[in-house]
Amino acid sequence: MRYFRTIHNRGVGFYQSVLRPLAFRFDPEWVHGLAGRLIDTGLGGGSFTDPRLQQTLFGVKFANPVGLAAGFDKNAEHTAAWPNFGFGHVEIGTVTARPQPGNPRPRMFRLPEDQGLINRMGFNNAGAEVVAGHLRNRDAFPIGINLGKNKDTEPAGAATNYLLAFEKLRGLGDYYVINVSSPNTPGLRSLQEKGPLMEILGTLRNADAAARFFIKVAPDLMPSALDDVISVAHDGGATGLIATNTTISRDGLTRDPHQDGGLSGRPVREKSDAVLAHLAGNCNLDLILIGVGGIFGADDVIRKIQLGAHLTQLYTGWIYGGPQLVPTILRDLCARMDRDGVRNIQEYHRQELPRFA
Ligand SMILES: Cc1cc2nc3c(=O)[nH]c(=O)nc-3n(C[C@H](O)[C@H](O)[C@H](O)COP(=O)(O)O)c2cc1C
Repeated sequence: MRYFRTIHNRGVGFYQSVLRPLAFRFDPEWVHGLAGRLIDTGLGGGSFTDPRLQQTLFGVKFANPVGLAAGFDKNAEHTAAWPNFGFGHVEIGTVTARPQPGNPRPRMFRLPEDQGLINRMGFNNAGAEVVAGHLRNRDAFPIGINLGKNKDTEPAGAATNYLLAFEKLRGLGDYYVINVSSPNTPGLRSLQEKGPLMEILGTLRNADAAARFFIKVAPDLMPSALDDVISVAHDGGATGLIATNTTISRDGLTRDPHQDGGLSGRPVREKSDAVLAHLAGNCNLDLILIGVGGIFGADDVIRKIQLGAHLTQLYTGWIYGGPQLVPTILRDLCARMDRDGVRNIQEYHRQELPRFA
C-alpha cells in the first residue's frame, strides 16, 4: 500500500521513469488487461476540480473538458472509476450489435520514439446487450456510447446493424457516436460518404429524436469529404462531430514498424488539428465539436479548444503519461488561465480559428 502511495505522490514523473519502462517490456494488450484490473481500485490516480473548467453542453454537465476516448473501456467495465483519474467524461465502446472477437493478436504496437501506438483491434467487444447490462446502474458521470458495425455485416445492412446496437443501449448514454472512421473494419470508412452516412444517422434519429448523435471522422478525409460530413450532420440533426480517429498514414515516423492498423498519439496530432479546424471553420455554430488526437498536455487541450473544440479526449497520451496525466493537465489548464487572464475554459473557444479556417 505504501508503495502505491509513493507512486501516487510522485505522479507523472515516477510513472514515466519507473513504471512505464517496466510496463513497456510486456505485450501492450496484456498490460492493458492488467491496467483494467488496477483501474477499479483508483490507485495512482487523482482528481482535480475547479469551477472554471466546468461547462454544460447539450444539457450535460461536464466537470472538465478532458475525456477518455473510445477504445479503452470498450465494454463499459470501469465507468465508476474514470472520475477518480480526473476525466470529465468517458466514451465507451466501440460497441457492436453482436459480440465479436476482433482481429487475431498481436494487434496493438507501441512506437515509443514517436509517442504513438498502432492498433488493429477490429472492434473486439462483448456486444450491445452485455454492455447495456454494465450501464444499467451507472453513476451520473457523463458517458458517451460509441457504436460500430459488425465485421460480417455487409455495407448495405449497416444502418440496420447500427440501429440494432443502438436499440439495446437506448437511454443509457448521454450521447451516442456513429463510428464510421476506424480503419480496422473493412469497408467501414466508406460509410463516411454522404449517402450511407445519411442513412445511418436518419435511421437512428427516426428511432429516437431526442438522443444526441455525434459522427466520428477519420483524420485522412479530404476537405471536400469533410464538407459532406458537415452537410449530413446539419441536415440529419446530429448534435456534433468528433475529430478524429486514428490515421492510416505513416508520415513522419522515426521508425515505421510496418504493421497494419490505425496510428494514434503524437504522429496524428497535426492531422487531427487540421480536420478539427476545417470542421469548425465550416459548420454551424450550434454543432458541438470534440477534439481528439495527440493530446499529451494542457497546451494541446487549449490549442484544440482554440481551434473550435468544446470538449477534448485522449487515449494514447494516457498510455505514455500515466494515471496522473489528467489531474496534471487540469492543474496546468488553471495555471494557464491565471496567466492568460481567462475566467473560464470557454473563453479560449475559437480564438485561433481564423488563422486555420
Ligand atoms: C488501442 C486503441 C483502440 C482504439 N479503439 C477505438 C474504438 O474502438 N473506437 C473508436 O472510435 N476509436 C478507437 N480508438 C481511437 C481513439 O479513440 C482516438 O480517436 C485516437 O486514438 C486518437 O487519439 P489519441 O492520439 O489521444 O490516442 C482506439 C485507439 C487505440 C490506441
